Amino acid sequence: MNVPDAPTSRPDPAAPATTPGLDRDFDRAAHRYDLLTRLNPGYHRHLAAAARQLADRLGTGHAVLDLGCGSGSSTSALLGALPDATVFAIDASARMLDHARAKPWPQTVRLLHAAAEQLPDLGLPRADGALAAYLFRNIPAGGRDHVLRLVHEQLRPGGWLVIQEYSVAGRRLRALVWTLVCWMVVIPLAFVLRGSPRLYTYLWRSVIDFDSTERFAARLVEAGFIDVARKDVRGWQRGILHTFVARRPVAD
Ligand SMILES: C[S@@+](CC[C@H](N)C(=O)[O-])C[C@H]1O[C@@H](n2cnc3c(N)ncnc32)[C@H](O)[C@@H]1O
Repeated sequence: MNVPDAPTSRPDPAAPATTPGLDRDFDRAAHRYDLLTRLNPGYHRHLAAAARQLADRLGTGHAVLDLGCGSGSSTSALLGALPDATVFAIDASARMLDHARAKPWPQTVRLLHAAAEQLPDLGLPRADGALAAYLFRNIPAGGRDHVLRLVHEQLRPGGWLVIQEYSVAGRRLRALVWTLVCWMVVIPLAFVLRGSPRLYTYLWRSVIDFDSTERFAARLVEAGFIDVARKDVRGWQRGILHTFVARRPVAD
């Protein structure tokens, strides 16, 4: 679906860019994160599909960013779709990154402990593409425009951004499905597996509170992206999990 031009929003300069304490919540959940995502049907398939969206637009041999790489699942998906790419994978949680670092990677993968808000300070080369899988919901609403502008700046002109994110705002039935799945399956499972039910309670709330798809697409346009499009997944997550694709114009 192509997303049309959207109304202008005002960034909130008083709002923090990073959710306070969230890196520590991810730190606490890191030891069970991979197990819980393995139990989530479709998680890796959806990541692979998002990475393919980027690969289809880039071809081979490129520099790409994995923003909020966590324990490396999205990094693996990127390498699967772009085996020749140099990947700069960034995460704010030291423990999530420890789990990523414990996995075998080719020398073309660099794992960096940093928040997305620090992108300009990392001295990275301009990227041909970027993937942000399940990152933006974790950035407070007042900081999202800022981070999108930083990503826009970090991409080369003509570079592509793919964002995978849950959003149910304005869809009551989808919000109900999301709530039932979280409270009847995900949070109890996190409790039983000692996987930090607190993080998964936050996961539920953060999706309920996240931008509508229209609002998030509008943010992309306001940050300077063009060709903004949205694709929805199939199955029970239809209307809940979305893939946004956007491009930095060749000439700004
Ligand atoms: C839900 S996990 C997703 C991990 C990975 N992308 C995947 O698909 O499996 C979200 C990750 O974003 C990280 N994160 C949250 N806020 C961040 C920020 N402002 N900058 C960088 N990473 C952040 C968290 O530490 C966490 O590892």
